[in-house]
Amino acid sequence: MKISKLLTLIGLFFLSENSFAQDVNEVKIIPQPNSIKYLGTEYVIGSKQAIVYKGFKQKPETLDRFTKEIIAQIPTKETKHSQSIVLEKTKTDNIHEAYSLKIDNTGIKISSSTEQGVFYGLQSLLQIILASDNNILAALEIKDIPRYKYRGLHLDVGRHLFPVSFIKSYIDLMAHYKLNNFHWHLTEDQGWRIEIKKYPKLTSIGGTREGTLINHLKDKQHVYDKTPYGGYYTQDEVKEVVAYAASKYINVIPEIELPGHSLAALSAYPEYGCGENPGPYKATMGWGIFDDVYCAGKESTFTFLQDILDEVLLLFPSKYIHIGGDECPKTKWKTCKYCQNRIKENKLKDEHELQSYFVQRIEKYLNGKGRSIIGWDEILEGGLAPNATVMSWRGVKGGIAAAKQHHDVIMTPSTHLYFDNRESISSEEPQTISSAYPTRHVSLKQVYSFNPSLDTLAPEFQKHVIGVQANLWTEYIKTLEKVLYHIMPRIYALAEIGWTTLENKNWENFSQIRVSEHLYRFDKTGKTYRVPQTIGVEQDTLLGETIEIKLKPSVKNAKIYYSINGYTPTEMDYLYTNPVKIHIPKGEERIFKSVVITPSGRRSVTSKINLINK
Ligand code: ACM
Ligand code: ZN
Repeated sequence: MKISKLLTLIGLFFLSENSFAQDVNEVKIIPQPNSIKYLGTEYVIGSKQAIVYKGFKQKPETLDRFTKEIIAQIPTKETKHSQSIVLEKTKTDNIHEAYSLKIDNTGIKISSSTEQGVFYGLQSLLQIILASDNNILAALEIKDIPRYKYRGLHLDVGRHLFPVSFIKSYIDLMAHYKLNNFHWHLTEDQGWRIEIKKYPKLTSIGGTREGTLINHLKDKQHVYDKTPYGGYYTQDEVKEVVAYAASKYINVIPEIELPGHSLAALSAYPEYGCGENPGPYKATMGWGIFDDVYCAGKESTFTFLQDILDEVLLLFPSKYIHIGGDECPKTKWKTCKYCQNRIKENKLKDEHELQSYFVQRIEKYLNGKGRSIIGWDEILEGGLAPNATVMSWRGVKGGIAAAKQHHDVIMTPSTHLYFDNRESISSEEPQTISSAYPTRHVSLKQVYSFNPSLDTLAPEFQKHVIGVQANLWTEYIKTLEKVLYHIMPRIYALAEIGWTTLENKNWENFSQIRVSEHLYRFDKTGKTYRVPQTIGVEQDTLLGETIEIKLKPSVKNAKIYYSINGYTPTEMDYLYTNPVKIHIPKGEERIFKSVVITPSGRRSVTSKINLINK
């Protein structure tokens, strides 16, 4: 009796193993390291670990703290021998961020020429420990180096803002996945979010709008909640965030938008708008692109912006300062005597060249202070500022054009890396910026498929693609739970396209094994995330008399429930355990639906397949 039950279990095991490629001994690290050699043995790790430093001039406090946090997560196990984690700062390897991690029967050693590299080795070690069973680690040697030096994630706090405690947890997530630049979008038409001491009205007036659009921008009649919405980060809070990020080897890039997206600033200081008696202006309650922008003709505009930037530079040590540059209508400039004078005096061809004048002047100012600018790809129009880095968001065209002009480029195309888009077109998805468009969405697979160094770009230009970033615009994201819904798990794919070379990427291994493991752990935190749909539903329609369906939950230890009558499955429907065979009488159809329900009770949106026996 016992034996036959065991055989059945083994049979099932092979069945599911065959259905979905998987090597149970493989470590499940995201992003996938670029070289892993398995040594064929195991290491039983104990919870009493000494930390040994080699090659450091003094004890690296940040690494020490983090290593102790990792050791605290090792399940208790006594070992006969004393064990240690060796952290080594090497002199020979000068490649920033590269690290090696060796686990063998003598212990664990992480080496890098930089603290940041050691930190990434520790993140890999942490992920290995968290995914291991019974204190057993596979002996291995990882030699790892990122594909791109810039790996960014953005957050728009202009439309909605989130507390510092949440920003820190956002940074924690970034660090766990080896992202290294946090792009903090701090100023918008809908709100100015950073305290500037010289211009207090920026936050006391520009920090609040009278209400918020609740239906879609595309809807004919706009509906607002009419509840004042506002807030900002004090300079002390900004310093706290910057210092916290630095402790995770993350650089914080502030974005101070100019010349467009500046209505909140103009609501506080209307004198920097166009014309003789500009304003009044208001921080807007809706989304979109607005004609009222900074006047490019008045000298006082530049003094104002330079004063603001002076304070910003004191808060942010980042080499890069993002100056926006996107979506700046030229309407007001066309009829403003100051702007037109500027065009004449500087022999500019048109208002596009005036925008270029504006950006170049700010660039010169910032270059003079030892900083570099990043701008959205509109800064190409009218001529690129000489040292600017371009963020290509309207697809990849702008990035290609900038690279061909020998400018550095960060790829962030809205088609693949705008995480404010919904992940699927299911009606069960929450309201998003893309809800009004029938097909617009950015799936996990779409993110994963993106190659920042496009094959079509010649190698001499590819070197200008310094990295990749995903953006999160928050028009329809009011709560931190929804922020998490939008970034989890797409942040995993972002991390992998930024770090892992094309040869080492593998969609099946990523989506079926590693995402499943990482979400299983995230599920335990009780935080919100988007549960990916059932794995194995690739087609809309399957034809036949007996149709076999093989599925896998997208999260480890989650369950799949299914129905064959078109109703949305619940826990009262069939529980999927093995491939199901569904018989369809001749000429009939069935609608097969499945959902994934995780150990914490979170559910995926419904997957659907039409089963037809014609
Ligand atoms: C952008 O999405 N306007 C950069
Ligand atoms: Zn003007």
